[in-house]
Amino acid sequence: MTEKATAVAPSNIAFVKYWGARDLEAAVPMNRSVSMTLRHCVSWCTVEARPGPGDDEVFVPGAEDGEPTPAPDDFAEPVLRHLARLRRRAGRRVAFRVATRNSFPSAVGLASSASGFAALTLATVRVLGMDPDPDELSRLARSSGSGSAARSVLGGYVEWPSSRAEAEGMEAPARQIAGADHWDLRDVIAIVSTAPKEVSSREGHRRATTSPHYERRLECVSRRVDGIRAAIGERDLERLGPLLEEEAVEMHLVAMSSRPPIFYWSPGTVAVMDAVRSMRDQGIPAYFTMDAGPNVHVLSTAEAEPEVAERLDRLDAVQRVIRDGVGSGPRMETEHLL
Ligand code: PMV
Repeated sequence: MTEKATAVAPSNIAFVKYWGARDLEAAVPMNRSVSMTLRHCVSWCTVEARPGPGDDEVFVPGAEDGEPTPAPDDFAEPVLRHLARLRRRAGRRVAFRVATRNSFPSAVGLASSASGFAALTLATVRVLGMDPDPDELSRLARSSGSGSAARSVLGGYVEWPSSRAEAEGMEAPARQIAGADHWDLRDVIAIVSTAPKEVSSREGHRRATTSPHYERRLECVSRRVDGIRAAIGERDLERLGPLLEEEAVEMHLVAMSSRPPIFYWSPGTVAVMDAVRSMRDQGIPAYFTMDAGPNVHVLSTAEAEPEVAERLDRLDAVQRVIRDGVGSGPRMETEHLL
């Protein structure tokens, strides 16, 4: 019998970034990270399992009509490896067909690997009849090699590795710090480029330790995690915002000073950062952060978000804005992509 499951998992924006790994394959990070799970930027993934041996297949939306079409090798390869890992784990003899799509542009630093691998993990464990608890699910998502996927299986505000699972250290799963209903933070994403990025985050992690600033970052980052956790606890954007910006600039400083250097920013990135600062000068609460790409996430309140979105949208540097906010995490769907 053919079994099928579809999961929808959100992307997340890191307030403190995972940058540099102890074990790159297994995505064991050098430092703790904190993120907010998004609501609208999501990946859908349908996994179908047929009994017996056979080749696994991966499909993405076709350019012409959006109908599932075989994925290019560089996209399919890490997906196939993760499927093989989960199949071994479940001890099942099945062949998979997988289809996936995103609600937002892929490979532009909007963490499509986080949502994509979280959705793939959720749909695959369901179809294999596994029933992992949330900690195990986070570990399984991390084992995809996309560390940020470990956070995308949870909603709200998330810490990874969780400092509450102290004994496990950096191998610990992600855990929720606060649910989505704790604080209605908004994230206006200013898209300044949709060109595929030249250096993957995986390569960024690999090069991070070559930066002369990396050791210093590791010294500072755990205090920043504490500050950001406290700011979330108190729903204090004026405390969170400066830490958020300092952290983003530091991660990019490490990237820019790695050997060879990585420049994720474009002129548009800097234009948006300037606009955010001038909004603040005018009393509008808005703070920026960027993951491994040129696009800028601007965090603000529910009240200020329409104004922030409108002003960012008016900038010449901005192609479009995506209005997102904190979300409550993944879900299963009954409509399938295959
Ligand atoms: O999960 P990865 O390997 O794609 O790395 C994520 C890297 C950043 O997005 C820059 C930071 C983060 O913690 O999400």
